[in-house]
Amino acid sequence: MKIDQIFSPYELNKRVTLRNRLVLAPLNMQSSLFDGSVSLNDLKFHKARAKYVGLDVIGSAYISDSANTAYGAISVADDSKIDGLKKLATVIHQGGSKAILQLVHAGRMTNEYVLKGAPVLAPSEVRAAHGEVDLPKAMTKTDIETVIHQFEAATVRAIQAGFDGVELHGANTFLFQQFMSPLSNLRTDEYGGSLENRIRFCAQTTKRVLDTARAHKPGFIVGYRISPEEFEPGALKLGDDLVLMQVLGKLGIDYLSLSLRQYDQTSITCDALSDLRIADIVKQAVGDLPVIVSGHLGTQFAFERASGDMFAVGTKFLKQPNWPGQMRNPGIQPESTVTGTVIPYTTLNL
Ligand SMILES: Cc1cc2nc3c(=O)[nH]c(=O)nc-3n(C[C@H](O)[C@H](O)[C@H](O)COP(=O)(O)O)c2cc1C
Repeated sequence: MKIDQIFSPYELNKRVTLRNRLVLAPLNMQSSLFDGSVSLNDLKFHKARAKYVGLDVIGSAYISDSANTAYGAISVADDSKIDGLKKLATVIHQGGSKAILQLVHAGRMTNEYVLKGAPVLAPSEVRAAHGEVDLPKAMTKTDIETVIHQFEAATVRAIQAGFDGVELHGANTFLFQQFMSPLSNLRTDEYGGSLENRIRFCAQTTKRVLDTARAHKPGFIVGYRISPEEFEPGALKLGDDLVLMQVLGKLGIDYLSLSLRQYDQTSITCDALSDLRIADIVKQAVGDLPVIVSGHLGTQFAFERASGDMFAVGTKFLKQPNWPGQMRNPGIQPESTVTGTVIPYTTLNL
C-alpha cells in the first residue's frame, strides 16, 4: 500500500475514524505489577507510542487466574484492575489513538508457577511440545462455560475502564488455537473432532463477547487475532482456519488481525494456494472484513509491498517509538528508549 495512504485517516467499518492505518501490535511487555495491575512503566510505554498509531493494542491481558501466559503480564481478571486499566486507556486516548485490550487465556501454554497455583486448563490433557509448560487438565463443559463467562466479564471491565474495544487472542498457540488444532484437541464431545466441533468454542466465545459488548456499549470494537496455520505434521491447516475466519466475519467481528512472521508469507499447509500470500488469501475469504497484517513491517519498502487494511508493527515500536517519523523523515532524532526511568504520575497529566 502507498505510504501516504497508510498515514491517512481510516474509517473502520464506516463507524470509527482512526488517525491512520498503523497499529501498535499487541506486545506483552511483562512490565506490570506482580498482581497484574498496570504499572507506571506500562503507562510510559504506551504514552510514548500511542501518538503514532490509529489502534494501540495492549497485549495479552489475562482474563482469570488460570489464564496468564507469563510473569508480569497485565490482568483484567477482577474488578480491582479497572482503575489501573482506566489510566492506561486515558494515556492512549491522550496520544490520539483508540485503545484496544487484547484478552487472553493461555490454555496449556503456561505453568502453575505463573498461575500461582491455579490449574492449567486446556481442551485435552496433552502437554505442549515446547515452553515452560505443565501437563494441563482437560476442561469439563462446566470449565468451558466458566471460561466463556470470564471473557464476557473481562469485556465488561474493558468497557468500564474506557477502552474502545477488545481483541480476542486466538493466535500464537493459546487457548482458542488449542481448540482449533487437532494436535491439542483430542476431545470426543461437541468441542472436538470435526472442524465444526473444533470451531465451536471460538465461535461461541466470540458471539458471547459480541453480545456483551452490544448490550453494554454499542459500537464497542471486537477484533480477533489469529495464527493462520501451524507447521507440525497433522496440526492446524490454513483451510480450517479460513472457515473459522469466515464464521467470525458472519458473527460480526470488527476486524481480523493476522499474526504472521512475515507480512508476505505464503502457506505451507495448502499446496493449491502455496504461490499466494496468506494475507491475500484471507482477504479473498473474508470479503469486507478489515484485516490487520503484521510481521517485519516498518520500512517504506515493506509497506509498499504489503497488502491488508491496517498494519501492525511490533519490534520496530519496541526499539524506537518514533520510527514512523524517522522513516518518513530520516533527519528526525530518535526518541530515548531508556526503560530504567519511571515517569511520575504527575507528568502524565491524567
Ligand atoms: C516482546 C513481544 C511480545 C509479544 N506479545 C504479544 C502478545 O501479547 N500478543 C500477540 O498477539 N502477539 C504478541 N507478540 C507478537 C507481535 O504482536 C507481532 O505479531 C510480532 O512481533 C511480529 O511483528 P514485528 O515483526 O513487527 O515484530 C509479541 C512480540 C514480541 C516481540
